[in-house]
Amino acid sequence: MKFPIIAYGDPILRRKATSIEPAEYPHIKQLVDDLFETMYAARGVGLAAPQVGLSMRLFVVDASVFDDEEPELKNFKKAFINACILEESGTEWSFNEGCLSIPDIREDVTRKSTVKLSYYDENWKHHEETFSGMAARVIQHEYDHIEGKLFTDKLSPLRRRLLEKRLTDISKGIVDVEYKMKFPSVKKGR
Ligand code: NI
Repeated sequence: MKFPIIAYGDPILRRKATSIEPAEYPHIKQLVDDLFETMYAARGVGLAAPQVGLSMRLFVVDASVFDDEEPELKNFKKAFINACILEESGTEWSFNEGCLSIPDIREDVTRKSTVKLSYYDENWKHHEETFSGMAARVIQHEYDHIEGKLFTDKLSPLRRRLLEKRLTDISKGIVDVEYKMKFPSVKKGR
């Protein structure tokens, strides 16, 4: 099942998401599949539960499109439950990021190159793992979503001001987008 994606401006994207327990979500695998389906339909490389209206610490990543530059990312498809960043390290580097909740806007964002995190997979198996390169980049972006942060927060005040009108338009649904979205300032979905 595909979800509509929540657009910029909705307060759920600003909420710190809560951890989940296996007993609360016996159908977690189905939910993970639905997140992947929604993400692929929108041609994304990552999607976090708050972006479909669920304030829980869950996100999915498929970084295999980057396997040209980083062959080890072939088949890099993972779900992260109750993720917690243990350490970020390495040189900061810049990459032109986008976000399915903020269609049509791409901006250079600086992040550290390596991230170590603790998380559970969709089988509730615990992992403590270190990622770098594009995998780290996508994970850091999605992790921000479960912390209620967006990549636009990381831009300079000037850059943010220049984008303000377009961001307001997105929250009103004034944007060309090929996947189904839910806009906070539109009373009835379109
Ligand atoms: Ni995003």
